[in-house]
Amino acid sequence: MKLKQSLIHGFSKKTRDEKLDFVANLHADKEHTLSVYKSFHHTDSNTQNLLEEFSENTITNFPMPFSICPNVLINDKVYLVPMVIEESSVVAAAAKASKLWFTRGGFKTEILGTEKIGQIHFLWTDDKTILYNRFPELKKRMIKDCFDITENMIKRGGGILDIELKDLSDEEPGLMQFYCTFETVDSMGANFINSCLEQFATTFENWHSAQEELSEEGLEIIMCILSNLTPNCRVKCYVECTYEQLDNIVPGMSGKDFARRFKLGVRVAELDPHRATTHNKGVFNGVDAVVLATGNDFRAVEACGHAYAALSGAYKPLTRVEMDNTHFRFILEMPFALGVVGGLTNLHPLVKQSLELLGHPSATELMSISATIGLANNFSAVKSLVTTGIQQGHMKMHLLNILKQLEVPKKRHKEIVEYFKDKIVSVSAVRQLVEKRSLAETNKNE
Ligand code: MEV
Repeated sequence: MKLKQSLIHGFSKKTRDEKLDFVANLHADKEHTLSVYKSFHHTDSNTQNLLEEFSENTITNFPMPFSICPNVLINDKVYLVPMVIEESSVVAAAAKASKLWFTRGGFKTEILGTEKIGQIHFLWTDDKTILYNRFPELKKRMIKDCFDITENMIKRGGGILDIELKDLSDEEPGLMQFYCTFETVDSMGANFINSCLEQFATTFENWHSAQEELSEEGLEIIMCILSNLTPNCRVKCYVECTYEQLDNIVPGMSGKDFARRFKLGVRVAELDPHRATTHNKGVFNGVDAVVLATGNDFRAVEACGHAYAALSGAYKPLTRVEMDNTHFRFILEMPFALGVVGGLTNLHPLVKQSLELLGHPSATELMSISATIGLANNFSAVKSLVTTGIQQGHMKMHLLNILKQLEVPKKRHKEIVEYFKDKIVSVSAVRQLVEKRSLAETNKNE
């Protein structure tokens, strides 16, 4: 790499090919680098231009596997769920759990709220009672001045729900907040909320200047931004069956014993944040894959889910188990801010395909679907962990990746997978076996 330690000026102004050239020049083999990057350009120039416009300084595309999880039964409706994820065995784990629960009543979901949040943070050094006393009138004005922004959202059944005034001055002198709630229906709502907040702030400043008793420097707006923590935009998803229905889902294990061990597996996550983090990572394996496939903001979904998991002050698992005399119940409850209109949803050709495959769901239906795949993945992971161990399933995928890496012909995969059924998989062990068998084959033929 030949990069100089000096500022690069005007990189964004270069054309796509100039940027590509600039980057390729830094590599030892420029021509090879260029051909690798270019090989991922879409053959259709319209699609390529569209993809490039999603971000800045784009030089190529980064493909990810687009997979399907079949047999997903949610609230008595069957889905084929698109998943975009690079980690082997995540889709297999979701598909396995979906198949298992398909014949046991499927997944059930309930939407526990759809409220989104935005905040205006400001310093108020004037008389607080004036602000509190005149807040009802100010609030009306703030909502009215926003009508140009909210008009369409109101027609779609959404809009501003409320504005509350909060005092944080005990923690930081003068710090106060407008805590604003919104209904954004089928859109994730980030642009809508941020636009409303900035208009609220303008109205607030104008109102403040017009109040004779207040000093000019008595108000300082710090920032206006939506909150990605939306605990009241939440879905509950669960599976439920009798213990008998779980008999032998792990060969030789009774349903009751499986449920007991599974519950203990989840209990460990309740008690230990190290385990809770890995446990929730398993939930997000499924959730993120659906969120990505449907063009949603997986960083927002992750931030929201993890913050929610820690709301009690300690980091907790997002799922829980309930067991009574007859039934096992496995439940996921998590907040989501998803959209099925706006953003990438109307632009990315594969996102459009995903939404079509899901039957053009509403945002709440998509919350249910994403949570379901999260629960499915978490179920498969904990099931493996408390029974066979996780490596059995993972190693099979790992072995297939090693075979690909060693360029072993497909017709030989079966025999090698069979050999490693009860053995430890490593790159060197696979290489040794392949070499030994290839040598034997050559000797036989000579
Ligand atoms: C791996 O991607 C996810 C797991 O570690 C989740 C878990 O431990 O529950 C298998």
